[in-house]
Amino acid sequence: MASQSVERPGAARCPGLSVQDLLRADSRPVPDYLTRESYEFLGDEDIPTERYTSPDFFRREIDRLWPRVWQWACREEHIPEPGDYVVYDFGPYSVIVVRAEDGAIRAHRNACMHRGTQLKPSFSEGSAGQIRCPYHGWTWHLDGSLKSLPCAWDFPHVSPERYALGAVRVETWGGFVFVNLDPDAPPLAEYLAPLPGHVPGAVFEDRYIAAHVQKELNCNWKIASEAFLEAYHVMETHPQLMRTNGDANTQYDVYGDNVNRLINVAGSPSAFIEEPMTEQAILDSFLIGDRGDVTEKLMVGEGETARRIMAQFFRDTVAARGGPDLSATTDSEIVDSIAYFVFPNQQFFSGISFPIVYRFRPDGMHHDRSIFDLVILKPRPKDGTPWETAQPVRLASAQSFTTVPGMDPYIGNVYDQDTGNMEAAQRGCMTLGRPGVTLANYQEVRIRHMHRTLMKYLED
Ligand code: FES
Ligand SMILES: [Fe+2]
Repeated sequence: MASQSVERPGAARCPGLSVQDLLRADSRPVPDYLTRESYEFLGDEDIPTERYTSPDFFRREIDRLWPRVWQWACREEHIPEPGDYVVYDFGPYSVIVVRAEDGAIRAHRNACMHRGTQLKPSFSEGSAGQIRCPYHGWTWHLDGSLKSLPCAWDFPHVSPERYALGAVRVETWGGFVFVNLDPDAPPLAEYLAPLPGHVPGAVFEDRYIAAHVQKELNCNWKIASEAFLEAYHVMETHPQLMRTNGDANTQYDVYGDNVNRLINVAGSPSAFIEEPMTEQAILDSFLIGDRGDVTEKLMVGEGETARRIMAQFFRDTVAARGGPDLSATTDSEIVDSIAYFVFPNQQFFSGISFPIVYRFRPDGMHHDRSIFDLVILKPRPKDGTPWETAQPVRLASAQSFTTVPGMDPYIGNVYDQDTGNMEAAQRGCMTLGRPGVTLANYQEVRIRHMHRTLMKYLED
């Protein structure tokens, strides 16, 4: 067993190359936001299992958490024209995000002001000149103002001022449209800090949705999210990744209440790989991004590293596709997983080779069911080559990611391994027989950070 630190709790680190050691060998100057660490010991008490298993606890989240947080509902390109709308559902809540006549993006509660009927079906999208209730036909303009109601003579007590659709806060960042049911929530930029200071919104604006999978899971939404908040599971769950993934040497940072980060290096073997690996052997097993692009064997030259070769390969591939110029972009920003979590349920990966976004939300009023959105973004071609927003592919809990058209089966298998863990964790928590689960001080600090903020909402 590795030695335990006798110093401050949380100060111990895995032996071997750290993220910062690798950044120092980068072929380009590394920006400050990557070189600055921000770990904080947040305690080592168990996390009560009831947070995953109790319908009562879930009910408190529905009442006190979900109506008060910012979460992305869609991308701006989902609703390019006036009248275009997307319905975003989380737990029992449903919001219509719509492009209004004046081009502004608005969001409304998806419920009729007459007798509450849901106005547009859950998970739907489309285009409409107005918003009309299918029950009795009350109708609103796209901006949410009341337009008309049948038999208005019978409703002298209904005034347009008091019967606009329920307004939902809406703001944008990085091409994502965020919504918040709380009229008193802080501005989005404040909520997202320091993320926009680390990664300019343009990094995400310049991408498009190349693939979108929406998978139903038989687990609590937090169990789903937590499976991607640490790389501690890589050696056991994804042993096929160990030859090129610095699993236990991942860096974890926490910021304020809402944001935390992981930097998971690629092109450096796991500390658990015992035989020494040459840079060529690392490069040969380096399976990241779109593997179809690698049509001939890449070679590591004298004095080069696998990371540098892969980074240059991506710079060249992206340029050849008419994408952005990455000549000044660091190797780390190209090959590593740099993942920002934004409370409560979203993760944004800013790196070039693994440009994904995750979102997790409760499925209706079920504490043990959730929906996992996996979105793969790609750089928008700058040379006019057309791109299209991929439609979501729905997967039932038993369906494999490898069945998704266009999904690399190697990557699909990795996600199957992750979602298998989630459902097993949910079942196990029901029968554990002790009141809590245990977290690592360093590698699982992002999970503890999420729970700390969660409890602030619930106890506030
Ligand atoms: S419930 Fe919507 S018009 Fe009556
Ligand atoms: Fe995983």
